[in-house]
Amino acid sequence: MVHPTTTQARPATAAFIPRALTGDRPTGPLHLGHLFGTLANRVRLQNQGVELFVLVADYQTITDRDSPAALPADVEGLVADYLAVGIDPAQATIFAHSLVPELNQLLLPFLSLVTLPELLRNPTVKDEAAHAGMGALNGLMLTYPVHQAADILFCKATSVPVGADQVPHVEQAREIARRFNRRYAPERPIFPEPQALLSDAPVLLGTDGRKMSKSRGNSIALSASAEETARLLRGARTDSERHVTYEPERRPEIANLLLLTALCEGVDPHEVAEQIGARGAAALKHRATDAVNERLRPIRARRAELTRDRAYLRAVLRDGTAVARELAVRTLAEVTEAMHTIY
Ligand code: TRP
Repeated sequence: MVHPTTTQARPATAAFIPRALTGDRPTGPLHLGHLFGTLANRVRLQNQGVELFVLVADYQTITDRDSPAALPADVEGLVADYLAVGIDPAQATIFAHSLVPELNQLLLPFLSLVTLPELLRNPTVKDEAAHAGMGALNGLMLTYPVHQAADILFCKATSVPVGADQVPHVEQAREIARRFNRRYAPERPIFPEPQALLSDAPVLLGTDGRKMSKSRGNSIALSASAEETARLLRGARTDSERHVTYEPERRPEIANLLLLTALCEGVDPHEVAEQIGARGAAALKHRATDAVNERLRPIRARRAELTRDRAYLRAVLRDGTAVARELAVRTLAEVTEAMHTIY
């Protein structure tokens, strides 16, 4: 089940095509948090007949990464992850930022529609600013939510399946859509206001009990081997109480292992807790390992097959980019007309 977090207001005159756009930074393999947080939703939308656009957000990696040479392998890995979980290039459009100049051109008018205090209020930007110090905050880091609005609006997406951390960015995109329409196209609005689609699955933590993140070494990659999965889960943090119970507030680490098991098995975490009970955390870790390896087995097999055919992965990206670009050209033409920059 997915549910809207915000109410939709779309231009009365535009034809309604359900279209979803979302994406990821190519900074390393996707993990279980992604699977239950957003990937499963994407596949569901695709299978419901929603037009799905999946963005390889390579221009977002230049905000804070300095290893460009790793990009091609990371991009191919990301495409392999997408296809392995069931995103179907015959139905969905997988494309990369940097290859769609018309998308990037939207950044310019969009930047004129936001204020500095507004950008600095964005929780993600705020975090980054606190981390780097204002002096070290680069211009793209400050404005990437505006670029992300261009990602969402160029294809007139009506929904954005994302994790909760991305909701402020979707709000920013809605604001930009409203302001653009009001300033340049009050009679015939160009951009629909997209809505965030959050997964119903509760948030999975990493094996250390903190937010699951590629950079923290606490995540289980979809592409990890069964042995690596077993090792990571053996090392997962637990607590000193013997009896296993599902109490997310009081016992977050145990609850997280129960949740992970339950999500993989498609059952309720309370049920898993009851079954393990007095057998303790070691038994729970075994059960979690089996559950994850079972759930990921077909995904891993498919992924291994895909990564042997790099030319195919590149072709998927190229074909998707051609579709995205056509759309971006059309949107930019509308924008150009609305802005009276035709001479
Ligand atoms: N910022 C997102 C992340 O870090 C990735 C992303 C880029 C995205 N552009 C997007 C997500 C557009 C949704 C819509 O995960």
